[in-house]
Amino acid sequence: MSVLTVLTYPDPFLHRQMAPVTDVDDDVRRIISDMTETMYAEPGVGLAATQVGIDQRIIVYDVSGTDTPPQPQALINPEIVTAEGEQVSENEGCLSVPDFRADVHRAWRVEVTGVNQDGQSVSIKAEGFPAIVLQHEIDHLNGVLFIDRISRLKRELYKRRVHKQMKQPA
Ligand code: NI
Repeated sequence: MSVLTVLTYPDPFLHRQMAPVTDVDDDVRRIISDMTETMYAEPGVGLAATQVGIDQRIIVYDVSGTDTPPQPQALINPEIVTAEGEQVSENEGCLSVPDFRADVHRAWRVEVTGVNQDGQSVSIKAEGFPAIVLQHEIDHLNGVLFIDRISRLKRELYKRRVHKQMKQPA
């Protein structure tokens, strides 16, 4: 297992649509184990392959919280099949959008289908926080960051800050 480098905004790869996984083979399982290790190292509650520069529709997440043993989950080719209700995801953040948080409107409940690392079809129903994480990570596979879902004004403030930092001498 190895810890992968997490891409950050404004890396153009983060805005790309990832390709479906065609075979759940050992390469895919190795990517999942590297992504899981990376997620825990950062630490984060979820990670999409997009964020580590891998053009495959794979997400990992762990919504078990800090008081329980780790419960890593992986989902291949995840797809939101139903989304119901509304919630405000308070202070949402992202490893690819460092030092910035914002409230994001999300669905309250989602049903997600996909494939697990044994190649079996799965269907997951989630609500509340786990539903937020699934929506956030699946967004990544479609090239969408949470800052794409906030007001233009707030997004511009963040972008201006990043561009200013990039201009500063190292
Ligand atoms: Ni993210």
